[in-house]
Amino acid sequence: MSTVSSIVLGVSGGVAAYKAAFVLRAFTEAGHDVRVVPTPGALHFVGAATFEALSGNPVTTDVWSDVPEVAHVRIGQAADLVVVAPATADLLARAAMGRADDLLTATLLTASCPVVFVPAMHTEMWLHPATQENVATLRRRGAVVLPPAVGRLTGPDSGPGRLPEPADIAALSLVVLSSGAAALAPDLAGRRVLISAGGTREPLDPVRYLGNRSSGKQGWALARVAAARGADVTLVAANVDAPAPFGVRVLPVGTAEELRDAMVAEAGTGGGVAPDVVVMAAAVADFRPESVAASKLKKGSTSEPSSVPLVRNPDVLAELVTKRAPGQLVVGFAAETGDEDADVLTHARAKLARKGCDVLVVNDVSGGQVFGRAENTVVVLTADGPATEVPHGSKDAVAAGIWTSVVPRLP
Ligand code: CTP
Repeated sequence: MSTVSSIVLGVSGGVAAYKAAFVLRAFTEAGHDVRVVPTPGALHFVGAATFEALSGNPVTTDVWSDVPEVAHVRIGQAADLVVVAPATADLLARAAMGRADDLLTATLLTASCPVVFVPAMHTEMWLHPATQENVATLRRRGAVVLPPAVGRLTGPDSGPGRLPEPADIAALSLVVLSSGAAALAPDLAGRRVLISAGGTREPLDPVRYLGNRSSGKQGWALARVAAARGADVTLVAANVDAPAPFGVRVLPVGTAEELRDAMVAEAGTGGGVAPDVVVMAAAVADFRPESVAASKLKKGSTSEPSSVPLVRNPDVLAELVTKRAPGQLVVGFAAETGDEDADVLTHARAKLARKGCDVLVVNDVSGGQVFGRAENTVVVLTADGPATEVPHGSKDAVAAGIWTSVVPRLP
């Protein structure tokens, strides 16, 4: 996004407050003006000077500083987005109750922009009915409350309650900034989602492979946004060099056949309940070398190949469609270019019919304009409905648009 937005970063008093400095950094690096509003408790963990230096803006916690500026009203009114990270159990309770006993809660009452709470607390506090009711209240009023990550908490215990990584918080918050709170509605809660991402590599010899230009970013974003919308997500990742998106189980694979085996196993009921939706975002190689040389192919040697015979790889999407569990929705991707025979959408409609999937997400890759880029534009096609264009945006924003088209089709 090229326009500068005003983001309020609320920080409440938990150990994870140190991660707020990284979230702040990500927002300023994206070009936004950030005002940090910590609670007094947060300043026990991170000093005001850190937030002032990183944001370039003054930092106050109470309504008695800068009285002529009427900060408790102005900061909220001027904000385009408020993100509270970490949001403790106490902060969620005060926000749900509409208290205004410090600058952050006063700001929450005057903000009419989207608000994102990123909870972090011990598992018992998160699961307590009081906290769950406060979360439900805040969501009912239109706020986004991200599900906490599962993992190591302060001390030896582990469970749900961990703050997601700053990169995930920043990316998801910027989706809300560009697309509104509905982009992270908790409408995938209780759903199981299986996604493939990345590009397969078909070995030729111990050092070479046939690969493709897929970075895996769009599949990564689909997984991250699905987890943020409450889904239990498994990501089969072909050669993607990126940290796991928060809350997502990642199964790394290399070749098309490995990807096929992982997807078919995970899409069935073998691992328990079958996923509600399976998304094939990976770029799967259609062909692989007929044989893999045991040692490196050297030029000038007897092993130097004059050509590389190829054999067909399995069509994973087609197999998933045939084997799908009852009620399971199957989503395919198509990277298309127009040609002299037909335009992109005509080719895509033919592919949707050929593959038999329920939804096809179409990328126009004419001129290589998608691979590795941070931004994307797609069209969502369904067999029985019109084409829906997802507006151009970050791959996370596009992922949110794709889920918004897919969710109403879930049984
Ligand atoms: N796909 C798959 N297995 C393959 C090839 C593709 O599952 N061997 C999936 C991709 O993950 C994607 C969809 O099929 O969801 C469309 O991929 P694409 O490469 O556009 O389609 P192809 O089947 O290769 O069709 P064509 O070569 O005719 O364009």
